[in-house]
Amino acid sequence: MRLIESKTEMWQACSASSRPLGLVPTMGSLHPGHMALVERARTECATVAATIFVNPTQFGPNEDLDSYPRTLERDLSMLEQAGVDLVFTPSSAEIYPRGFNTWVDVLGSAQGIEGLYRPGHFRGVATVVAKLLNIARPDRAYFGQKDGNQTAVIRQLARDLDMMTEIVVIPTVREPSGLAYSSRNAYLDPYQRAAADVIYRALAHASTLYASGQRHAATITDEVRNMINSEPLVNGIDYVSITDAESMNEVEWVERAAMLAVAVHIGGTRLIDNIVLGQE
Ligand code: PAF
Repeated sequence: MRLIESKTEMWQACSASSRPLGLVPTMGSLHPGHMALVERARTECATVAATIFVNPTQFGPNEDLDSYPRTLERDLSMLEQAGVDLVFTPSSAEIYPRGFNTWVDVLGSAQGIEGLYRPGHFRGVATVVAKLLNIARPDRAYFGQKDGNQTAVIRQLARDLDMMTEIVVIPTVREPSGLAYSSRNAYLDPYQRAAADVIYRALAHASTLYASGQRHAATITDEVRNMINSEPLVNGIDYVSITDAESMNEVEWVERAAMLAVAVHIGGTRLIDNIVLGQE
């Protein structure tokens, strides 16, 4: 496995690589959700490249950039064992050199529910993903469905800017309890971690409601909200929302596949999760 810090070297290595080339962009602190992206890339691509870069521009001023878990040695050994060929670990100055002043603003999907709660977040995500795709020029890039609004933004970015990369979205990987793997789960103490299981229980309940014929979005979201609020360690819900999975517009009636997404605070940790109703 080759470790690369410079974007010129990364561009050269990717250009010279056997095709198809699959790219797995990450912010490190790898977990089974990331490894599912790597495994899928491994099965579909002759060369697999991963990036580890905690992108400062996608964190708001009061968010967790400084405390975001950084576990580089462990991440590298996981990637090596999984058969990754190239790992790009640029510094912030390499990605945002002095004078950097171009931003990618995806409209529409970036104003979806997660974008409204994290102003500027998707501008940072779209900008760094555009840069990583330009540097690596992969045939395919792999992202997790857990960040449902992010996948809609990245699909739109690739489509609107004519990027010749196929965006592949992989289903959310969950712990046996149903809790979605997330780097931010590391912030939870054991009690909070157990409490966080309510999120998937509530999503699974929504799925049952949908399966039994309920199509009224507000009825489903009210039940999900009540169930999550019944957990004493939950200290806030940013949203429980059902949107069209592509446009991210809220729907009143679930007539075709739609994303039920939640953002929940447990202790100081904000967790997001979603399921697609009508596709389960
Ligand atoms: O999903 C993530 O880890 C990040 O948002 C990404 C796509 C690597 C961009 O920094």
